[in-house]
Amino acid sequence: MAGDKKLRSTHWFGPRDLMGFAHRSWMKNQGWAPDMFDGRPVIGIANSASDLVPCNAHHRQVADSVKRGVLEAGGFPLEFPTMSLGETLMRPSTMMFRNLMSMDLEETLRANPIDGVVLLTGCDKTTPAYLMGAASVNLPTIAVHGGPMLNGKFRGRDIGSGTDVWRMSEEVRAGTMSLQDFMDAESAMSRSVGHCMTMGTASTMGSMVEALGMTLPNTAAVPAADARRHVAAQLVGRRIVEMVREGTRMSDIVTREAFENAIRVNAAIGGSTNAIIHLNALAGRLGVPLDIDDWDRNSRGLPLLLNLQPNGKYLMEDFYYAGGLPMVMKALGDRLHTGALTVSGKSVAENVAGAENYNPDVIASLDKPFKSVNALAVLRGNLCPDGAVIKPSAATPELLQHRGRAVVFEDNDELHRAIEDDGLDVDKDCVLVLKGAGPRGYPGMPEVGNFPLPKKLLRQGVTDMVRISDARMSGTAYGAVVLHVAPESAVGGPLALVRNGDMISLDTEGRTLTLEIPDQEMAARRKAWTPPAEAETRGYAKLFLDHVMQADKGCDFDFLVGASGAGIPRANH
Ligand code: FES
Repeated sequence: MAGDKKLRSTHWFGPRDLMGFAHRSWMKNQGWAPDMFDGRPVIGIANSASDLVPCNAHHRQVADSVKRGVLEAGGFPLEFPTMSLGETLMRPSTMMFRNLMSMDLEETLRANPIDGVVLLTGCDKTTPAYLMGAASVNLPTIAVHGGPMLNGKFRGRDIGSGTDVWRMSEEVRAGTMSLQDFMDAESAMSRSVGHCMTMGTASTMGSMVEALGMTLPNTAAVPAADARRHVAAQLVGRRIVEMVREGTRMSDIVTREAFENAIRVNAAIGGSTNAIIHLNALAGRLGVPLDIDDWDRNSRGLPLLLNLQPNGKYLMEDFYYAGGLPMVMKALGDRLHTGALTVSGKSVAENVAGAENYNPDVIASLDKPFKSVNALAVLRGNLCPDGAVIKPSAATPELLQHRGRAVVFEDNDELHRAIEDDGLDVDKDCVLVLKGAGPRGYPGMPEVGNFPLPKKLLRQGVTDMVRISDARMSGTAYGAVVLHVAPESAVGGPLALVRNGDMISLDTEGRTLTLEIPDQEMAARRKAWTPPAEAETRGYAKLFLDHVMQADKGCDFDFLVGASGAGIPRANH
């Protein structure tokens, strides 16, 4: 438009020659008027809507609302599809494909005449995949989150995605719930568009997007079915056009201060442990120094303010009605970098100034927190030299300091056979150890870390035990579960060397995880260890195995760290 400096898209749509003809003419078969190519900002709308990804299926309608806003502001909206990652269907784990989806977005953005991008984020991995891909291009970027489902309603009470599935499943195994009742809960749990409505990974990452300043304030928790979700999308459409004109890029927003804000917000909301992996990978793309110890440093001493499943009882719908994320951020006060810039064009302080708390039972305060225990802790020790993670807020408090005899499962298949066996040599004080579930070992580091308890102990009324693995767990899950042990067992990390009967001590307060064997014994076992045969010889799986980094590095591919920018590629004809 008149007065704008030359935009990226002008290299495609501007020239009055053969190339310009080709770039414009074929686009005009969609019925666009000639003046849409006059140099106005071209806004890409990245959409992973898919019938295979129920959490994102409604993003088609969200995209329409974004387009409305883009057009109102004088931009040219162009929606495009990308790969999509559905948490409930994809095997062996959506985590195996997060980096692939990020590559899809990155290359699509760079290869096309796009000046700014709106990311429609939603189901767990789709949010970090989009953030990571966009970061490596670094255009003006805003996310609009798809939003959670309405509260599940089952026989007069609220039930939450994931959290209640884990609980009811164990009740069926313990014989305290009938299989028919369990089946009846299915349609009661997922009764509207949107993603999991507990503080699982999708809600956590939506909150991280808002805490990072990458979406408009008070939009993370709006239920997907609420008309205000579309208002947010329309406003995002308007704002991204302004951001292109201002030249505000993603790296201007997602700074070290923004990451520290996100980590502290994650502590206050009791967010998913998966956030650590995703934000560390994102930081790597942006060149912002961030490691797992930053998570412990920035979370330590911060109490849990939000009473949501799996840490508490409420659900995302309640969170939105109580005041949403701005209220949590306001409650954190000067624990946040309140001067940090956000995509609204305003600071964090300005964004949250008007927040009010309409239900202190849902959103507590620093003076009177919901729980004083930390939402996450990073462990170190000879069992996890590169770190491990536990979520104290969702664990049985008595198990946070624990010493017990190891019962070892070499892989997930062995575990599932053994835990049904009444002959398994295990008691409630044992420490259950699962190997072979890390980034390379499974592959894809699936969410199996909150694995089921031995059936014979469930029948005795045991509801939690210390479990240790190199896996992740769903953000909806709970328990005294040590996750992300690094290095993983498949690459010869100390987890690979644990044997039945070894003593293991977990000291959450002291942040240590110790395999109580002498150093010489550890060295002898290491010498005798042989790596598992690599199962994949071709295709994406081979690429994944060859390049995925360990959990503490965010499981990004080594060759994706950093950014390649938004330069104009060479002509295609
Ligand atoms: Fe998509 Fe939980 S399955 S967010």
